[in-house]
Amino acid sequence: MKRILVGALAAATILAAVGSGNAGPGNIRWTVHNLAKTAPWANASNRHWYSSEVDEVCIFCHTPHNAKPAVPLWNKVNPTQTFRMYTSSTTLSSTAKAVTAPGPESLLCLSCHDGRTAINVLHNSDVGVDSGDGSGDKRVKMAGLPLTDPSNPNVQALAMGSLPTFGTPYRANIGKTNSDTYAGYNLMDDHPISFSYTAAYGQKGSQYLNDINAVKAQGFRFYGPNRDRMECSTCHDPHVDYGLDFDGIPTGSPTGNKKLRPFLVRDNDGSAMCFACHNK
Ligand code: HEC
Ligand code: HEC
Ligand code: HEC
Ligand code: HEC
Repeated sequence: MKRILVGALAAATILAAVGSGNAGPGNIRWTVHNLAKTAPWANASNRHWYSSEVDEVCIFCHTPHNAKPAVPLWNKVNPTQTFRMYTSSTTLSSTAKAVTAPGPESLLCLSCHDGRTAINVLHNSDVGVDSGDGSGDKRVKMAGLPLTDPSNPNVQALAMGSLPTFGTPYRANIGKTNSDTYAGYNLMDDHPISFSYTAAYGQKGSQYLNDINAVKAQGFRFYGPNRDRMECSTCHDPHVDYGLDFDGIPTGSPTGNKKLRPFLVRDNDGSAMCFACHNK
């Protein structure tokens, strides 16, 4: 089954490469999204977060069976809290202002990045202990973390917001909980998402935004039935190979593109990413 998923990824990578000018190669192993026990790096002493027992890369997000949501074969519990979305008093279009919740594609990311949903609770896993809530979900051990003592059979749920250092240096804990007044639902300081780009373009016009087809041609992806809704994965590809290395030792993937850190669909040199959509 793992082989089928890898095959699917290869197909997705090929499609992405055909459909866009700038999208990088996919190989999640060489990124911080590799939470598996065994890492590809020769020197991984500065590695942040990974499991001390799970030795599969995809399983932290996908499962071949009994997935929920079914697309994209999701292996995690999604957040249920009400998020507070970006807004601004004057300039933002009414389309973007009307958004009250993240779209389903963004909830996938927020199932770790909200700071409060556990990263180590999986619907399906060969290892781990039962979460004890009747769902059949398993909690898996994470290395080097006080909350998940490997000798303790009651492995605890670990959320990004539960440790001050979790989510650094890239401040990956974007919903925030630790010492933050907003308990995992603060997207007010994050780029607006979950609205139709085409509708916003209709309101703001070509003085402010570029035509969606020109944007798509640069590797940006859109969602929903009309393929025009902006979500986290419009700008980010959670699998892209950015050739992460540790301690400055060149053990990163030889094919990785470092300019695509942190998981960008294209480089942001000279704000190229922003100018792909924005006209000013
Ligand atoms: C950190 C979470 C994460 C990990 C780990 C991960 N993925 Fe994904 N994957 C996602 C998200 C989120 C999506 C949906 C959004 C997107 O396409 O970017 C996705 C989408 C996909 C899709 C497209 C599915 C569809 O129906 O469109 C494939 C194929 C895929 N992943 C394969 C893999 C494989 C193979 C691995 C392991 C080598 C893997 N992924 C590891 C988060 C992850
Ligand atoms: C299974 C949990 C999980 C999911 C799901 C997930 N991430 Fe992450 N993400 C992480 C962890 C863990 C880190 C590393 C945090 C750290 O280094 O402190 C991270 C780091 C990042 C970073 C910073 C990268 C860097 O190089 O430091 C970005 C950007 C990011 N994720 C985006 C996304 C997006 C976008 C999605 C959805 C498409 C997503 N993530 C889904 C767990 C997840
Ligand atoms: C309009 C494009 C865009 C959208 C939409 C977007 N991001 Fe980002 N994100 C970026 C860029 C560009 C960076 C790199 C910023 C930098 O390096 O200073 C980034 C950085 C990050 C980081 C690293 C921490 C940080 O603050 O720099 C995380 C984590 C992250 N994004 C997650 C997400 C998640 C989750 C979503 C959806 C809720 C999302 N992003 C939506 C463009 C976007
Ligand atoms: C995929 C297209 C896309 C990308 C890439 C993108 N944006 Fe946006 N951005 C939009 C859209 C669409 C809006 C909403 C405009 C509206 O509805 O008024 C927006 C809104 C904004 C706003 C809020 C404006 C307001 O009136 O409050 C800011 C600020 C912003 N973007 C900055 C950035 C920066 C900085 C980058 C690069 C890191 C970036 N954007 C990348 C499409 C994009």
